[in-house]
Amino acid sequence: MLEMESRKLKILYGSQTGTSQEVAERFWRDSKRYYFQGPVLALDDYPVTQLIFETLIIFVCSTTGDGKEPDNMKKFWKFLLRKNLPLDSLKGLRFAVLGLGDSSYTKFNYAAKKLYRRLLQLGGVALLDVGLADDQHDLGPDAVIDKWSEQLWKTLGEIFPLPNGTEPLSENNLFSARWTIKILNTESENNDIEVSDIIWIQNCEKHTVSLEENTCLLTVKKNIRTTAESHFQDVRLLQFSNSKLIYEPGDVLYVRPQNSESSVTMFFDIVSENPKAKLNPYSLISVCETSSDAPVPEVLQRSLTLKACVKQYWDLNMVPHRYFFKLLSHFTTNELEKEKLEEFVSVEGQQELFNYCNRPRRTILEVLADFPNAAANIPLNYLFELLRPIKPRAFSIASSPKKHEGELHLLVAVVKYKTKLFLPRLGLCSNWLASLNEHCSAPVWVKKGTFRFPSALDTPVIMVGPGTGVAPFRSFIQEKVALNQARADLLYLFFGCRNHDGDFHCRDEWLTLQENEKLTMFCAFSRDQENKVYVQHIMKEQAALLWSLFSSQQASFYLAGRSDNMPAAVKDVLINDVACSCGQLSSEEASQWLARLEACGRYQVETWS
Ligand code: 2AM
Repeated sequence: MLEMESRKLKILYGSQTGTSQEVAERFWRDSKRYYFQGPVLALDDYPVTQLIFETLIIFVCSTTGDGKEPDNMKKFWKFLLRKNLPLDSLKGLRFAVLGLGDSSYTKFNYAAKKLYRRLLQLGGVALLDVGLADDQHDLGPDAVIDKWSEQLWKTLGEIFPLPNGTEPLSENNLFSARWTIKILNTESENNDIEVSDIIWIQNCEKHTVSLEENTCLLTVKKNIRTTAESHFQDVRLLQFSNSKLIYEPGDVLYVRPQNSESSVTMFFDIVSENPKAKLNPYSLISVCETSSDAPVPEVLQRSLTLKACVKQYWDLNMVPHRYFFKLLSHFTTNELEKEKLEEFVSVEGQQELFNYCNRPRRTILEVLADFPNAAANIPLNYLFELLRPIKPRAFSIASSPKKHEGELHLLVAVVKYKTKLFLPRLGLCSNWLASLNEHCSAPVWVKKGTFRFPSALDTPVIMVGPGTGVAPFRSFIQEKVALNQARADLLYLFFGCRNHDGDFHCRDEWLTLQENEKLTMFCAFSRDQENKVYVQHIMKEQAALLWSLFSSQQASFYLAGRSDNMPAAVKDVLINDVACSCGQLSSEEASQWLARLEACGRYQVETWS
C-alpha cells in the first residue's frame, strides 16, 4: 500500500475560456496514474491562505489578449502580490507552472511568467522551467504541453518514486469518470415516460440547473434590431426589466446562455441511438460525488432533468478539445471510427485534427454526429467528462439606471459567420440572446468593468467606440444627461460603422443629443465611400482638437471595441498625429506621454475578441 500522505498534489488553474482548465484536468487525470491525491481547482476556488502549508502544486494559467491574468485567478493573484508576504513563506513548496498564451500578442504568457517569478521570489522551488504553450504554434499549444508534461511526470517520478513493484496505472485509467449519476425516476429508465404526460413533464421543467450565487433572472422587455434588415449583420438592443441589479456606467453584465432547442433536439437524436444510456430527456438525474478530489459544482447539486442539463449546462456549440476525441476513441466499437479517432489524438495527427476541427470551427454536436457509434456508446456519467459547462459571456452594459430606471440594456452583435462547412457558425450567447422574446428571462449577474470614468465635472471625456464598442459610452453619456451634466464641450464620441443607413446603432438618440448640444460626435462610415474610413482616420482629422483637450483641459480618453487592429491604429494616431504633430513631442516623448496618461487612468482601453 502506498503512503498516500506523502503523495499530495494540487492542480490549480487560471482559465478565461476553459482551455487551461481542460489542460489542468488532463494533468489531474494523469496524476491519478501515479497515485497522487488532491483536487483540481480554479485558483480563486482555492483557499489561498493555505498556500504556506502546501508542498506540491502544478499551476496552469493562461494570459488574456491584453496580458492580464484570467478572471478566476484575480483574488489569488492579489493575495500573492501582497508586499508584506515574507520572502521565505513558500519555502516548503515545490511547484511547476505551465502557461497558455498566444505569441501574436506582445505580452505572450505574461501571467504565467509573472506567477513563476513570484513563486520563486517567495521561496518556492521550481520542478522545471515555466512551460510556455503557444496558440500560434503550427500544431497548437499541445506541441509544448505534451513535452512539458512528459518532463513534469519524469521529474515527479524521480522525487516521488513509486515503491518497488508498484507500476503506474495503465493509460486506461485516464478514462475514469469523476461522478456517478443516479437516475431518480426508474420509470424513465425503462423509457416508458409518456411524452403526453404533460403534468409530469411540467413538474420536470422545474428541475433545472440551479443558479449560482449572485445570479438573477432578468426578463426581456424589448428586443430591438438596431441594424437595417438589409444590413449583413444583426445587432440587438436588448432591454431588460431590472429591479434587482445595481450597476453604474462601465459595469459589465455576465450572461449564462443556453443551447438552442434545435441543438438540444439534435443532441437527443444523436444519442437516442444509445441502447445503454437510456437517455430519456425527462429522466430525473442526480450527480453524486465519488471522491472529495472532484466535488460536484454548485449548479449541479440538485436533481435535474437530463433535458435541463443538455439545454442549460453542457456547451453543445463549442469546438472540442483533444481529450474529447480520446474519450470517443475509447468508447467506439466501430473499427473505422476508432482508427480515425486514434489518429486525431496521436502526436502525428495534430495537423489533421486542427484541419478537421479547429479551422472550420466544428462543434461538439457536429463531431458527435460524425462518429455515431461512439456517440451511441457513451455511458451517461461519461457525458459529464465529454461535455463542458456553458461559459458565461460578458457584455458592457449600454444603459444608465438614472436614465432608464428599472431597466438594463445590452447592445449585442449576433455572431454568425461562414467557414468551409455548409452551415454558418453561430455564436452561442449572442444567438440565444437574440432569440429571446418579450417576457423570456436570462440568468445574469453584474461585475465591475475596467472603465473608471472621471468624477470631476469639468474633465472632457474622449470616447472611441466603433460598432458595439459604443455600448459603455451610451451608458456613461446617458448618465451625464440624466444628471444634467452633459455638454458638447465635455463629451466627445468617435463612432464607426459600415453605413449611415445600415448599422448606425441608436442613431436617433445620438442625433438628438447633438442637436441639444449635449454631445460632440464624429462618425466614420467605413463603406459609404470608395475608401475605407475608420475611427482612427477621423481622429487624425481632429488631432489639434484632441491635443488641446489633453494638454489644456486634462481630458480622459476611453477606447472600447473589438481587439483586432483597431486599438493599435488608434494608439498610433494618439502618438504620431496628436502628440508628435500637434504637441511637438518627439516619438519617445510621445510614447512616454501616453504611458503617463495610462498610468494615471487617463487612457483606458476595454477590448474583446
Ligand atoms: P469594415 O467592416 O468596413 O472593415 C465597426 O465594426 C466598424 O469598425 C466598421 O465600420 C468596420 O469597418 C470598422 N473597422 C474594421 N477594422 C477596423 C480597424 N482595423 N480599425 C478601425 N475600424 C475598423
